[in-house]
Amino acid sequence: MAFIIDGKKISNDIKDELKEKVTAYKAEGIQITLAVIQVGKDPASTVYVGNKKKACDYIGIHSLTYELPEETTEVELLDLVRKLNQREDVNGILVQLPLPKHINADLIIRTISPVKDVDGFHPQSAGALTIGQKGFVSCTPSGVIQLLKRSGIEIEGRECVVMGRSNIVGKPMALLLLRENGTVTICHSRTKNLKEVAKRADILIVAIGKPKYINKDYMKEGAVVIDVGIHRDENNKLCGDVDFNDVIDHVSAITPVPGGVGPMTIAMLMNNCVDSIHSR
Ligand code: GUN
Repeated sequence: MAFIIDGKKISNDIKDELKEKVTAYKAEGIQITLAVIQVGKDPASTVYVGNKKKACDYIGIHSLTYELPEETTEVELLDLVRKLNQREDVNGILVQLPLPKHINADLIIRTISPVKDVDGFHPQSAGALTIGQKGFVSCTPSGVIQLLKRSGIEIEGRECVVMGRSNIVGKPMALLLLRENGTVTICHSRTKNLKEVAKRADILIVAIGKPKYINKDYMKEGAVVIDVGIHRDENNKLCGDVDFNDVIDHVSAITPVPGGVGPMTIAMLMNNCVDSIHSR
């Protein structure tokens, strides 16, 4: 039976550490403020935004929430982002994705000041990570690194295979593993012999967006498996990209869904907010 990596516990530890830091900053008169913008009423986004606000409240970060109607124009959203860029009292800006189709999300992300880009989605943040310079790092992949480190799983010198090549998870994930001196392979839906490539992994990160798609045929015995996916299965139960029950006796450690990577994304967002006081 594999070791279950407890993302809930690790994320709570990180939030407690951040709460202590924020309390100390407050004693010095430093207040951290995160502005969160949601356009429209996508139900999943409403849950995520609510969870982000709750985490801010717990840690002591002041949050400003902007709930804008679906019909908000691109110009109106750009105006708001520019105003928040100018505000001295706002440290971080997060525009919840997805945005309605009539708004160009890339343009909005590019308009957020890189010093307030706590999601790490701005091209400058992505570029800085690529060349090893300072900048905000995308929260989900940095959460995965924390899960591995805090579970005592060595990255240096090991075969790390990242399944998925998105800008938010796969690409920054590969760069972070490289920064930790892992030997990194990225594979994806067009990869030939995907099973053979995945089987190289000592550490397999799965972010392909297909429910329960990856079974033990894709893993060598004793691999560490991190499941970034989150879906509802045929019984409306949460599940990941990995078929957990199929692989559990085959791997050495695995993250569950829920309670694995998910809570880490918010913990690392809070970490970026705390770091944002040094970036202005
Ligand atoms: N939508 C789903 N996840 C995220 C996230 O981490 N940040 C933003 N801005 N939108 C999201």
